[in-house]
Amino acid sequence: MTSLPPASSHPAPPPGPQPRPGTRRWDERLGSIAYGGDYNPEQWPREVWEEDVALMREAGVTLVSVGIFSWALLEPREGEYDLGWMDELLDLLHGAGIAVDLGTPTASPPAWFFHAHPEARVVTRDGTVLGFGSRGMASPSSPAYRAAALRITTELARRYGDHPAVVLWHVHNEYGAPVSEDYSPTSAAAFRAWLQDRYGTLDALNAAWGTAFWGQTYGAWEHVGVPALAPSVVNPAQRLDFARFTDHQLRACFVAERDAIRRYSDRPVTTNFMAAECPATDLWAWGREVDVVSNDHYLTAADERAHVGLALAADLTRSVAGGTPWILMEHSTSAVNWQPRNVAKRPGEMARNAFQHVARGADGVLFFQWRASRSGAEKFHSAMLPHAGTSSRVWREVVALGADLARVGELRGSRVRAQAALLWDWESFWAQDLEWRPSVDLDHRERVRAFYERLWRDGITVDMAHPEQDLSGYPIVVAPASYLLSRAAAENLTRYVEGGGTLVVSYFSGVVDEHDAVHPGGYLAPLRDLLGVGVEEFLPLREGQRVRVAWEGPRSAEGEHELTADVWSDELVLAGAEVVATYLDGPAAGRAAVTRHRRGAGTGWYVSTRFDVEALATVLAGAYADAGLAPAGLPQDVEVVRRRGAEADHLVVVNHGDQPVAVPADGVDLLTGEPTGSSVKVPAGGVAVVRVAPTS
Ligand code: GAL
Repeated sequence: MTSLPPASSHPAPPPGPQPRPGTRRWDERLGSIAYGGDYNPEQWPREVWEEDVALMREAGVTLVSVGIFSWALLEPREGEYDLGWMDELLDLLHGAGIAVDLGTPTASPPAWFFHAHPEARVVTRDGTVLGFGSRGMASPSSPAYRAAALRITTELARRYGDHPAVVLWHVHNEYGAPVSEDYSPTSAAAFRAWLQDRYGTLDALNAAWGTAFWGQTYGAWEHVGVPALAPSVVNPAQRLDFARFTDHQLRACFVAERDAIRRYSDRPVTTNFMAAECPATDLWAWGREVDVVSNDHYLTAADERAHVGLALAADLTRSVAGGTPWILMEHSTSAVNWQPRNVAKRPGEMARNAFQHVARGADGVLFFQWRASRSGAEKFHSAMLPHAGTSSRVWREVVALGADLARVGELRGSRVRAQAALLWDWESFWAQDLEWRPSVDLDHRERVRAFYERLWRDGITVDMAHPEQDLSGYPIVVAPASYLLSRAAAENLTRYVEGGGTLVVSYFSGVVDEHDAVHPGGYLAPLRDLLGVGVEEFLPLREGQRVRVAWEGPRSAEGEHELTADVWSDELVLAGAEVVATYLDGPAAGRAAVTRHRRGAGTGWYVSTRFDVEALATVLAGAYADAGLAPAGLPQDVEVVRRRGAEADHLVVVNHGDQPVAVPADGVDLLTGEPTGSSVKVPAGGVAVVRVAPTS
């Protein structure tokens, strides 16, 4: 079996791809930012292919992903391959100058596979066996599935490894979706093996899982099982390990396919992540296994500020890529079809979305999908070529975007440098998501988004960072939801602050270790010396309850003296920190709400309650001052990100507002070709990409 790093080790920082020497660049033949999408011509008669290719050229398409769901056609019966149509397709695309990102079709095994291997089907936590007729139905632990996936992948790699059209391999599709965890007997056996590898002895397992509680002590390995539904809450350490195991199994499937491809091809290998959306994959580890990071992103229609969520996802993707350029593998031209209410994008929105990703490091902009499907589950999903055809707004915008991306090709390869890091740890999120936490209102996604949005509104570019990675380059680090915090992470944060950094820690952080066991010494214990404060008791608030907080620390001119907050408070015990804000009422009335502590050359802040994005302006003002930062003072709903290149920098300006704006930028707007003078004027809903002098 393919070897992975030991299950218990964190991915060693820094993050990012580490391609084998000799791996080609995916974009070496693409003149500009890559443009295109998933292309599924097998759903259409042959004559449509010619029209597709002609229209792709009209739209400026340079890269398409093919074969992602084609297993049943490529291998109609076990061991019998029908690759003629793929030969023809690749030759057609190559002849038209369109490069190919070739999929391995392993996200959707054929009917014959499940007929032969019913044991490979996924079983849900409540014991339901998931049937055929969809996708993503095979257990990542199934030996039969793994063998079949390797066979078809090897066949494709052998045949197309050197094909001139192929510039990139797209393994599988969105590992972890639509299902990730599998509770089948096959999975249970693999889980036991993984645990034996991780813990060595049953004693170590019993200690790590705290099985003395509720009488769960194991006396034989074969008694250890998957954390299926039980009468009450299942051991949280067991569930956390099951989440790690699930991630490991999925990653092992990827690595096996990647290595099979590498035997026959020097083209880079990727798999499309869902950075902010797929909770099951620890992308810090995955980012090191791919040759180039790619990501899928869809707006959440119910979120009226979904463009901020998009920016977060793009920044996370770049961070997983270790700052290297990445590919936006999928987004949508307009509505998706799988949300409760699928809101169509308004004119200009698709281009703003695309340029947001480019601003934050994407060197490729692709969609799901090229031509809207007439049949199947996704027929109401938008596409580059919609059901309405070429006399449609979406098509006109698709053609215009292709032309605009061709104008900004010189951006390729340039980097984004962030001023702030926001701690992001999938393991911590897995742990916090388990049941019986002190309040159902604790929501790490909400806290991360709120702090992120504050930084976004202040025009401060953000990287996400693993709590154990080197943070010394960032003036400020925010820990919005570091519930699970290892000793090593706490030591890393301490080093960061002592070295001059500014750290802001939000409530419900530093609570448990990697086994979901409360830290000796109590909540926040590993950060107590650093922050100069401890948490004696959690004081969660009732539903809807609000508390008043007197702000005594530094304030911006418009900052409030009195703030309100909700969801949470702590009974804090000062251990050297100064009090910056005090509760005026609620269960912690009269006690510290926000603290600040000098430690070494830096400062640690602790925020013990939930402030909204507006109130966070006041809360972060003091921390910015400690970090030597200030809000950029941008017009509302305008984002500006700098991509730094060797010859020039580029400012990507996206105006999400309904008023025209002028943003300081002295250079040339690549989209209009015009010099900007001292500032670039961007119409309501518009975009500018300004080449400016490089900064050091
Ligand atoms: C993605 C998936 C695509 C398509 C798309 C629709 O998650 O990878 O195959 O289903 O969603 O939005």
